[in-house]
Amino acid sequence: MTAAAADALTRVVAASPAMKEVLKIASRLATVGSPVMLEGESGTGKDLLAHFIHYRGPRRDGPFLKIHCPSIPEDLLESELFGHEKGAFTDARQAKAGKIELADGGTLYFDQVHDLQPAMQAKLLRVVEERRFERLGGTRTIEVDVRLVSSASQDLRQAVAAGTFREDLYHRLSVVPMQLPPLRERREDILPLADTFLSRERERQTTRARTFARDAADVLRGYHWPGNVRELRSVVERAALLAGDEVVQAAALPPQVLEQPSALWMGRERRPSLKDVEQAYIRHVLEQVQGNQTRAASVLGISRKALWEKRRRYGMP
Ligand SMILES: Nc1ncnc2c1ncn2[C@@H]1O[C@H](COP(=O)(O)OP(=O)(O)O)[C@@H](O)[C@H]1O
Ligand SMILES: [Mg+2]
Repeated sequence: MTAAAADALTRVVAASPAMKEVLKIASRLATVGSPVMLEGESGTGKDLLAHFIHYRGPRRDGPFLKIHCPSIPEDLLESELFGHEKGAFTDARQAKAGKIELADGGTLYFDQVHDLQPAMQAKLLRVVEERRFERLGGTRTIEVDVRLVSSASQDLRQAVAAGTFREDLYHRLSVVPMQLPPLRERREDILPLADTFLSRERERQTTRARTFARDAADVLRGYHWPGNVRELRSVVERAALLAGDEVVQAAALPPQVLEQPSALWMGRERRPSLKDVEQAYIRHVLEQVQGNQTRAASVLGISRKALWEKRRRYGMP
């Protein structure tokens, strides 16, 4: 891969202090070989950071192999990792190198490592400690030079405390633990990320949109993003497709984002009073039901008369 291609593949948006720090550490780690553990909720950028650490370092021309632990059935995982010799088991008609062997000179990425079963954890520990192993059914010891990156979306310390993850393996894999904070805890990243995803869509010529309308930006910044950056990316891709012109309006955002109560006020300077929230929510419901008073009252759980009084008090049309 050319340096330019590697750069493009590993472009990490980092506007918040937390992500800037993550990126600083990752850049340093790219040049040294210590095992890195990336911890964070799904969609926070663990895969991206794993690629970053590989492609921004001296191993960039070596292989990068990922093992997604949850998706490989336990009985296949061992041969997937260690490879096998011909005849090692019934279906082993040919010898096959495993991923550890294939990653020699490069990086091995154990994705969702909390999912490894105890028996595999024990086998893996030996490789991690000695950098040596044998193929299944083989006697020849193979030495490898691999850089290890792992990820976990569950708290591994807790797993260690609960006895489901080996403490020795944990320490070996987590020489440098890195936390990727959820997106809702680094809101400064939301709009820069959204802008980046939007300009990618423009480059792919799926949209003419260049910017977000003020209210759309407010809603994006205020949403709690349970699916983190992955969810933001899908939301922006969808909105880009729906945008009729150069500005993405809030209406192009999906219901899960728009209907968040927090979408009514988050991202604004002042915290709202209960009245503000009530008023904003009534407005929101009225919009959703296109002004139908009976339906609005039923959604709000109040009588039509009570709704009428509130509208009058708040001066709503
Ligand atoms: N800081 C970031 N800058 C740019 N893109 C990001 C960033 N974080 C995540 N992404 C993108 O969001 C998506 C989900 O990230 P991913 O690395 O797969 O998350 P995880 O492995 O933690 O589930 C990917 O398309 C990734 O490229
Ligand atoms: Mg991932």
